[in-house]
Amino acid sequence: MKLKYSLITRRQFLNTLFSGSLLVFFSGAIYSLLKFSFPTLGKEPEFVVLDKNEFGNLAPNSTKSFAWGGVLGLFLKREDGTMAAFKGVCTHMECNVAYRPEEKKFYCACHQGWFNDLGVNIEGPPPKPLENFEILETGEKIVIARKGAKVDLAKV
Ligand code: FES
Repeated sequence: MKLKYSLITRRQFLNTLFSGSLLVFFSGAIYSLLKFSFPTLGKEPEFVVLDKNEFGNLAPNSTKSFAWGGVLGLFLKREDGTMAAFKGVCTHMECNVAYRPEEKKFYCACHQGWFNDLGVNIEGPPPKPLENFEILETGEKIVIARKGAKVDLAKV
């Protein structure tokens, strides 16, 4: 069946096509520029290396933050002296969590989520525990590694 009248004019069709092409071109250019300017944006490492003097002598029942790629990492020294390292990002909607020494728990202020000092979600909306990292000690360094990551300690 042949239409008597076109639904859009040739000018409208070409304008839409041209505008769409410009949008795709500039979106790609801006994305490439951002990736070039911030190469680690959105990437997380397999491991990070911390200074043992700085983190090993932490007071009991306290935390110290470190950079886990572009996000917060939290190094915890519990009251009994055991250490743990977590990604300090809530598993609900990715707000940063903070350690509350008086409660010995991690708190997420966004929606009142709580995690115990093992990183387990115990109250509020977080659906799963904080990501827990492995701690490897070598010489003057502490290596915080993603579980299962291969770390060559000789090269650290
Ligand atoms: S983002 Fe942490 S409880 Fe919602």
